Amino acid sequence: MAISPVRTTSNQGFSIETIVRTLRSVLDSQQVPHTLHQPRFAGREREYLVDCIDTGWVSSVGAYVDRFEQELAEFTGSKRVVAVVNGTAALQIALKLSGVQPGDEVLIPALTFVATANAVAYLGAFPHFVDSSQQTLGIDSGRLVEYLDEIAETSSCGCINRVTGRPIRAVVPMHTFGHPVDMDPLLEVASRWKIEVVEDAAEGLGSYYKGRHVGTLGRIGVLSFNGNKIITTGGGGALLFQNEEEGRVAKHITTTARQPHPWRYFHDQVGYNFRMPNLNAALGCAQLEQLPKFIVAKRLLHECYRVAFASVPGVQLIAEPPLTQSNYWLNALLLDEEFATQRDALLDATIKDGIMTRPVWTLMSRLPMYENCPRMELPVAESLEKRIVNIPSSASEK
Ligand SMILES: Cc1ncc(COP(=O)(O)O)c(C=O)c1O
Repeated sequence: MAISPVRTTSNQGFSIETIVRTLRSVLDSQQVPHTLHQPRFAGREREYLVDCIDTGWVSSVGAYVDRFEQELAEFTGSKRVVAVVNGTAALQIALKLSGVQPGDEVLIPALTFVATANAVAYLGAFPHFVDSSQQTLGIDSGRLVEYLDEIAETSSCGCINRVTGRPIRAVVPMHTFGHPVDMDPLLEVASRWKIEVVEDAAEGLGSYYKGRHVGTLGRIGVLSFNGNKIITTGGGGALLFQNEEEGRVAKHITTTARQPHPWRYFHDQVGYNFRMPNLNAALGCAQLEQLPKFIVAKRLLHECYRVAFASVPGVQLIAEPPLTQSNYWLNALLLDEEFATQRDALLDATIKDGIMTRPVWTLMSRLPMYENCPRMELPVAESLEKRIVNIPSSASEK
């Protein structure tokens, strides 16, 4: 990953006490305990929610849903946005619309939140795990090219895994903690192998790759508005489309596939009840108004961490990769390899001090339901798994 330029090269003197003290020096002393990520409701949330209650438009249809979708489209530069109940449902629909069928394989990073893998499994497909890049924490396209050359072949049905005989239908780059994946080489690999690209940008609202919003570079992108994300709708997600017609189909199948009619109930396929309720969208509209402010606060918090940790030995603060702008949804420390064994002690010490920290997710390839799924060698993901510690990242800390 890109490492902040200001730091010592010394690995001597690693000290948990120093790290705790450094975290404390950056964080707002009024806010103990310091959570990892706290939602902030400082705008028109109450006003919009009361409006929903007063007008009776609290459920799955309403003006706030349309407005939220439109404003998200403008913010991200998408042709069409469809708001849904959560990011996991959005991923499931995105993969389905990309042609993923039962028995297919979908390439996903081993280092991700479980929702990425679950969305694949819900479709009866198999997650196929890919290693991470040190630079971005996301899929390593260079290694993926070599791997596909080894195990895959193209046929009239697209890319086939020669080992399992199954089609490899899609790849899901995930923008870890808001840091964009290096998309250009990934798009090139996908195009060469005829694999669809669905971006898991659940953590990436407000992040840009070469000036383009994440989630708009592949065929379909996905956002999450869970309570821990940069903006929240309580629970919620969205699909980002660059193709109007595909967006229209998504809206149809996420609203029970009911054909529009003043009174007739006619559903033309097995649809999903995944639409976002108006109440949640109202919260989202108020949150979206504050998003630019949240991004400034989160980037400022990162800058304060960067300066504070510059001379702390044994750890590096993870920074945005070159040519990208991260929303810094979650800041993270990376312990030097030789101090990985100190990670649990660091977690215990910080939590005891009222500073919430968390290790990164257990690799998907280690979870019981996915341990037999195909994978490439995962040395980088395995190393990152042992060394990443997320630290408090709320916009309200600054
Ligand atoms: C990388 C990633 N993918 C998918 C999701 C799923 O989003 P949701 O919780 O809204 O279902 C999340 C977050 O929760 C996430 O962090």
